[in-house]
This record gives sequence, C-alpha cells and structure tokens, in this order.
Amino acid sequence: MEKLVILGAQWGDEGKGKIVDLLSESFEITARYQGGSNAGHTVVVNDQKFILHLLPTGILHEHVVGVIAQGMVVDLEVLEEEVKNLEEKGIPVKERFIISDRVHLVMPYHKLLDSLFERKKGIGTTLRGIGPAYMFKYGRRGIRISDLTDEKRFYELLKDNLEFVKNICEKVFCENFSLELEEIYEKQLRIYEKFKNNVGDVLQFFMKNNKSVLFEGAQGTLLDIDMGTYPYVTSSNSSALGLSNGTGLPPNYFADAYFLGVAKAYTTRVGEGPFPTELKGEEGEKLRELGGEYGSTTGRPRRCGWLDLVALKYAVQVNGLHGFVITKLDVLDGFEEVKVAVAYEYEGERIEHFPASYSVLTKVKPIYKTFKGWKRSTKGIRNPEELPPEAKEYIKFIEEYTGVPVVMLSTGPKRDEYLWLREILKTRSSYS
Ligand code: IMP
Repeated sequence: MEKLVILGAQWGDEGKGKIVDLLSESFEITARYQGGSNAGHTVVVNDQKFILHLLPTGILHEHVVGVIAQGMVVDLEVLEEEVKNLEEKGIPVKERFIISDRVHLVMPYHKLLDSLFERKKGIGTTLRGIGPAYMFKYGRRGIRISDLTDEKRFYELLKDNLEFVKNICEKVFCENFSLELEEIYEKQLRIYEKFKNNVGDVLQFFMKNNKSVLFEGAQGTLLDIDMGTYPYVTSSNSSALGLSNGTGLPPNYFADAYFLGVAKAYTTRVGEGPFPTELKGEEGEKLRELGGEYGSTTGRPRRCGWLDLVALKYAVQVNGLHGFVITKLDVLDGFEEVKVAVAYEYEGERIEHFPASYSVLTKVKPIYKTFKGWKRSTKGIRNPEELPPEAKEYIKFIEEYTGVPVVMLSTGPKRDEYLWLREILKTRSSYS
C-alpha cells in the first residue's frame, strides 16, 4: 500500500491544489481531513480553472475516490454547489466520494458568528464559519452529519444552538438576529437527502480498502492551531499533526507514508498576523502582481515577502517532511536579487528557530542571504538541465538549509508545467 501526505509548509496558498491534482493521478483514494470551505485549491485543466473548497482535489481524476474525513467541518450548501459545478463542467463526482458520518456541519449561524467575531478581533478569516464551527465542536454543541438521520434530535439541537447564538448576537453584539429555525432545518435536510448515500464510516472504509491514498492537507503549517502563529491561525491542525485526529486512523498508519511539503519560492499570507519577511514596498507589490497573489476563496490581496527558511525548517520539523515541491519559481525570474531569511534578530540576539511567542514574532528582523537573480524565464521548463545556474543555486541552498531535498519544481499553473528533480513516485519503496 502506498501513502502520500501533501502539506502546506507556509501560510497556505502554496499551490497544493495543482500538486495534488498532478500526483493524485497515481493514487486510488484522496482524502481531506481538516478545515473546510476556507480552503480554495486551484487547478487549471485544459485552460479550465477549478477551485475546490471541500472535495479533495484528486477527485478531478475519474478513477479517484474522494474522502471527506471526520476532522473537516462541512458546509452542506457549499458542498451542493461544488458538486453541481463540477458535474456541469463534465466531471461526475456524486458517486465517487464518501463523507465521514462524524464530520461537523458548518451552519449559517457559524458564518454569522465568524463575521461578528471578526468585527471585534480581526484575525482576517475567510468568513466561512470555520472558527465558530470548531468552537461548537470542542464546546460539545456541534451538530454532526449523522445527527441528521434523526430529524427530531436534529431539530432540538438546532433550536438550542439558535437560541444560544441569538443571545450572543443580541446581548454581546447588540445586533438583530434574523436566522429562521424552520428555514435552516429544511434546507439542511433537503441537502442531506441528496448526499445521505455518500455518508459513511471512514475508518471502516480505510480498513476495507487497502488501496493507495493521497492525504491532502489544507491551509499550511504556520496556520496550524497549535504550531502556527497563534492566534492568527485557522482552527484546525493544518500541519501533519492533524492527520490522525482528522482521519480517525492511528498514528502508526502513517509510519510508511511519504510526507511532501509544498512551499512557494517566496512567502505569502492572507489575513492578519506576524510575517517576518513581509515586503511592504515596491518589491512586495511586484511579487503580488507577478504571482497573481489574490486569495482564491476571498479574492483578498495576499501579503508577500521573501522566502523564510527559518519558518521552512520549522515546517520540516513539525511535519517530518521527506521532500519539498517548490512552486512559482518563475515569479522570481525578473528580480535582480533574490533573498532568503536564514535567521532572525531579536533584541540584538540571533535566533535560528521559529519562535512561539506572538510578541517575539512581531518584533524579529530577518537576517537575509542574498542571491543573484537569474533574469531568465523559467516558466514552463520541463527539464532540470534548462534551469539557470543561479536558480539551481537557490534551490540547492534551500535543500542544504532545511536538510530536505526539493523533489519537484512547479513552473506555471497548468498541469504540465512542472519538473521532477528527483522522481519520488517511481522510487516509492525507498522513501528516506
Ligand atoms: P479561517 O480559517 O477562515 O478561520 O481563517 C483563519 C486564518 O487562516 C486567516 O488568516 C485566513 O486568511 C487563513 N486561511 C484559512 N484558509 C486559508 C487557505 O486556504 N489559504 C490561506 N490562508 C487561509
């Protein structure tokens, strides 16, 4: 059996969608296991752009079975829309995915709370109701998809939650509350009816299907609720730490998996929070424009900066990465100089690890190593020999610093714009 885990090594938006799409062709199952429709995995196939928010990206291949595992929070309205859009574009998916009966649902009142909390706290969330849905889950007032099999129970849970949210809304935020119990109840049941045959026990599914699996992480390591730049993080374990609790599979199930980290050749982040290598001036603007750095879920401009190797090495440690895919190298093509952070300076001291403290992270100054730019197009290159020597040096330094090989480069948004530096799929049995 073969297992590949693909994880974001930065603050999300590393280009995982394209990599998962590319590699999932060699797998029978692809599974998502944390987050929800805050993710926006973009894939371009034959000049057609697909953005997947809930279904695993691998589902674009017709032989692949998709899994929405228990760690996800699922907005049924988004799921309905996503399935409809894919089927309209000629990709039948309805019969090819399973949703864990343990997933929690994102309800309209979670989205309402997300926007109310944002007014006070300003994390810069995607407003998809993700944080509140996980709050309800861990506060033991969430509604799981399996609760919809018992309409009476579902009604009571919904009623109780709506009263709870109404109180928060009116008493804490002094806002009018206009969500209707009956309307939500009927809509959820209507959509559930459509997908009830897709709901099942994911643990048993994995036990019965001894097949190759690609696990698709959403967001990125630095947005992980425990290991990320708290509180400016998402509400799930978006690093490898989320695999076991997100799937229900025991940790040793993943012992023989290959852990592949995806990182951009520079760094971006959407929303608020610490970002040591952020470039606020012209260079940041240039990266944003050349890289088309606007959020795929929210359309927000992404903050841009140089590659942060301190953070990337931390991602190697947190996830136990075996290899990297570096994406968007071509965005750096026009720069005279390219920089990478190799350490931080904090109150006159040099630090080489990624600090936990918010106060420290917002004050550190990156210490850069500067590379000569290659000033040649790398867009669409398929052969490593064609890479400019300066670009090779840049990649080599990433490998030396992090101690992990760069196995693939992505050189453009299309499926065929990539090159292997070390082919991992063919040497699967010798992961090391
Ligand atoms: P939430 O996940 O919507 O609660 O947002 C929390 C933080 O995670 C915000 O900074 C978001 O911009 C960020 N975030 C959530 N999902 C993604 C993603 O898929 N890509 C990049 N950032 C994300």
